Amino acid sequence: MLSKKMGDALNGQIQWEMFSGYIYLAMSANCDSIGLKGFANWFMVQYKEEMDHAFKMYNYLLEQGADVELLAIDKPQQSYDSPLQMFEVALEHEQGVTKRINDLVDLAISEKDHATQIFLQWFVTEQVEEESNANENIDKLKLIKDNPGGLFMMDKDLAARVFTPITAEE
Ligand code: FEO
Repeated sequence: MLSKKMGDALNGQIQWEMFSGYIYLAMSANCDSIGLKGFANWFMVQYKEEMDHAFKMYNYLLEQGADVELLAIDKPQQSYDSPLQMFEVALEHEQGVTKRINDLVDLAISEKDHATQIFLQWFVTEQVEEESNANENIDKLKLIKDNPGGLFMMDKDLAARVFTPITAEE
């Protein structure tokens, strides 16, 4: 059983995960429109992952008999100057998500809510990967700079990313 405060906080995180998905979906459309289909694929997979993160929280609330309350999602930034700027925005956003996950863990600890604490560990680990992915792509794009051949090769690499639902990983 969850406290009302914990339930509200997890509903807030569902909103945030969906907002993350919205940001990545806009980035995907942006890349598609400039012919970077591989980058568009990478961001589309990221969008699906974020919706899966939201769904994992949604399922947990239902399992715990708590109320699901879907909140309004803000309009994301629609246009970017470059793929590098997209990944820089993504990194800053993910650092914010990490802070929010840590705050949720702190709340679960303060409430002695062991089940939620254990549930949130998956997200703690996931955030390390989320930040690392953004950092890795920023490093590559900085190396590539204005080299179209390098960008083309990176686009080919990013085209290979596939979405794996969390349920298939567990
Ligand atoms: Fe669901 Fe990108 O964190």
